[in-house]
This record gives sequence, structure tokens and C-alpha cells, in this order.
Amino acid sequence: MTKDAPMVEEITDFEVLEIALRELAIEKGLFTAEDHRRYTEFAEGMGPTPASRFVAKAWTDPAFKKRALEDPIAASLEVGIDWLNPTGFGTPSDFTALHVLEDRPTLHHVVTCTLCSCYPRPILGNSPEWYRTPNYRRRIVRTPRQVLAEFGLFLSPEVEIRVEDSNSKHRFLVLPVRPAGTEGWSEEQLAAIVTRDCMIGVALPKPGVTTNVARTVHPAAEPLEGHSAGK
Ligand SMILES: [Fe+2]
Repeated sequence: MTKDAPMVEEITDFEVLEIALRELAIEKGLFTAEDHRRYTEFAEGMGPTPASRFVAKAWTDPAFKKRALEDPIAASLEVGIDWLNPTGFGTPSDFTALHVLEDRPTLHHVVTCTLCSCYPRPILGNSPEWYRTPNYRRRIVRTPRQVLAEFGLFLSPEVEIRVEDSNSKHRFLVLPVRPAGTEGWSEEQLAAIVTRDCMIGVALPKPGVTTNVARTVHPAAEPLEGHSAGK
């Protein structure tokens, strides 16, 4: 530590920007400090549970599955998510479509946002850190099989991989294949194995596995010719 090192951790430029913008918006009357507090509470309370229930319900109820694929926004209401006005207060943000990607035994979907970090937050909560890294975003579209293997997901060559690129108007949720060994399970039991990673498409649901893969973001092991290793 040099003698000039700060005694407390300094805040980042983005944090300074957020505070400045927020204080200005409050001063201008766009929203109140109380609105902001309520929104922050909402944002921190979001998680993948509604999406897990959504998938488990689709696995157990064919009529719900049909609704889930045809009109995911309407179907989301059945697991308590109002996609069009998720906070239940304030001004709903501009419309964003939600799509459900149905896996088959020979077709696997995985989701990214190559441009930034778009994610189906109202139903799946906040995105994991690795999802937002340029390393994941650049490489999953070029070498999906390799990147999935880095997550511990080894797909056989006959399984086609489709990478779906999210954007400001389109968000995606993967509906994985119901795994063997779950016959007769309740919706609640099934929901427990539908982890966040399964719905992004970097993991497959498996009896006994109820947590996400711990993932350290690291540079490409085999960087592509002409591209940086990604950071
Ligand atoms: Fe994005």
C-alpha cells in the first residue's frame, strides 16, 4: 500500500453517475426518494423462483406448457409475474417480448446478449456476473460447445446448439427437457432442480442438483485466431 492509497474503497465512476442522475431526477420531481427505495427493494427481491415454477408447471401440465410456449407473458401471470408491469407501481418500462425456447433431446438452447447484458429479469431475477462478461458474450456465439463444456455441460455431437441473442426488445427463457428419474415428482420437487443456469442454458436439470455451477470467469483456453481472449 502506498502512502497515497485511499483509506476506504473508492466508489466507481458508474456509482458516481448513478448517484448524480438519481439526485437530479428526485430534484426534478421525476420520482421521489421513497419511490427509489421501493424500487430498490423490488429489484433486490427478484430471483429465479418464478421461472423455476414456470418450467416445472410446463413439465407437469400440458395445457400450461401450450400457453407457456404460445403466450409466455400471459402464462407468467400464473406464476405471479406481471411481465408488463413487474414492479406493480410506477411507469412500466417500454414493452419487451418474452420467448420460451423449448429444448428437445437433440436440440439445446443457450441465451446471451452479445451487445450488453439483456436478461429476462422480471421472471429470472438479476443476471449472474459471468453472463455480463465480454468473455462469455463473445465466445458463446462462436464456440458454444467449448464454452458449455467449461461450465461442465458436455453435449454429444448429435445435439444441435442454438444460441439466442437477447436485445432490448426480446428476452428468452430456456425450457429444458424434463430429466429422467423425476417420474411422479411434484411441481415443487421439480422446481427445485430447475436452477437459474438451466434456464439460461449453461446447465441441464438433474435430480439431486439444486444449485448453480460456481463459475470463475477466465480468459479463453483456446482463443480464436484474430480475436482477443476476451475480458
Ligand atoms: Fe443487452
